[in-house]
Amino acid sequence: MNLDTFRTPRLFAERLTAAHLDEIRRMHLDATVMHYLGGVRTEEQTQEYLRKNLEHWERYGFGLYIVHTAARDAVVGRAVVRHLDLDGTPEVEIGYALYPEWWGQGLATEIANKCLDIGRSQLGFESLVAVTQAENRASRHVLEKCGMEYERDRNEWVIYRTKRRT
Ligand SMILES: CC(C)(COP(=O)(O)OP(=O)(O)OC[C@H]1O[C@@H](n2cnc3c(N)ncnc32)[C@H](O)[C@@H]1OP(=O)(O)O)[C@@H](O)C(=O)NCCC(=O)NCCS
Repeated sequence: MNLDTFRTPRLFAERLTAAHLDEIRRMHLDATVMHYLGGVRTEEQTQEYLRKNLEHWERYGFGLYIVHTAARDAVVGRAVVRHLDLDGTPEVEIGYALYPEWWGQGLATEIANKCLDIGRSQLGFESLVAVTQAENRASRHVLEKCGMEYERDRNEWVIYRTKRRT
């Protein structure tokens, strides 16, 4: 199984590589993108983020994607399907972040649905989580549109989980 790329009707996503450092830096320096993601990051934090996410791909064969338009003429944002240690419990999370000029077109929902499909149908995980700031109403709405359910609060964060399949 090769999960290095995925497509949705409007998007093309590719596996993170070391060549994406500039793109990750651009996202990490965008205060609007990073508002609910802990704020803008330093160069050192960006380098560490890249290193960890490259290592995740090496180890597990899935991870963080850079997401482009289907025509590949612009980067829209990023997506993740990634292992997460949540208070000592191993989980797999899905996530997404888009540059502001791409908001409001249903693209995050398109990405989230695809990440859920990768996590469940292709990787076979029974249960997936998403973590977002409680105040991030747009992100919470995306998760609810994808059929995930609010599970619990964790400080200023909220945890959503896929519904149990019957
Ligand atoms: C959150 C984010 C991913 C949403 O992306 P998007 O492509 O605009 O999302 P979609 O268009 O798929 O869906 C957003 C939904 O939330 C709704 N929405 C937008 N702002 C909202 C708000 N302030 N309150 C409630 N709902 C809101 C939209 O109307 C839409 O719902 P609808 O389809 O029923 O009309 C995007 O704003 C983003 O990348 N933000 C920065 C990074 C981030 O916060 N990532 C999430 C981290 S967990």
